[in-house]
Amino acid sequence: MAKSNSQIVLVLSGPNLNLLGQRQPEIYGTDSLADHMRRVGEIAKEVGLQIETVSAQSTAELISAIHAARGRCAAIIINPGALTHFAWSLHDALASFAGPIVEVHLSNPTTREPWRHESVVAPVASGSIAGFGADSYVFAVHAVATLLAKKS
Ligand code: DQA
Repeated sequence: MAKSNSQIVLVLSGPNLNLLGQRQPEIYGTDSLADHMRRVGEIAKEVGLQIETVSAQSTAELISAIHAARGRCAAIIINPGALTHFAWSLHDALASFAGPIVEVHLSNPTTREPWRHESVVAPVASGSIAGFGADSYVFAVHAVATLLAKKS
């Protein structure tokens, strides 16, 4: 459990995740991004963390949010969408962040098309959580809380 309620966790959502609930619900479920972020916020509050959310449709926006989080946010939870699989500039931006980083996916990309099997984010993440649908986000918050508690 985190010891301070002043710790901010940045929750980043990449391209097309703003369409969750409408987009391929057979894969990603029927919850909207707002539903997921509401749940993340509630659980974060329970474990003494505060969240900030950014939903971005481009690599540049995500990178700017990561730069702005440096030295200000305690941890990052990121679902980079398809950028997961090729955006090395996102990898580099995350590598510049000092705190825990948890990569999240609703689906399990390694069971899908071959181009989804590689994550360029995984090598700079503390860990990756994939394939649990909405619970992937729930587990990510608990992972971040555990990692931050170990650091403090
Ligand atoms: C995703 C998996 C990615 O491969 C895909 O491009 C997405 C969503 C997931 O949450 O399962 O947009 O990140």
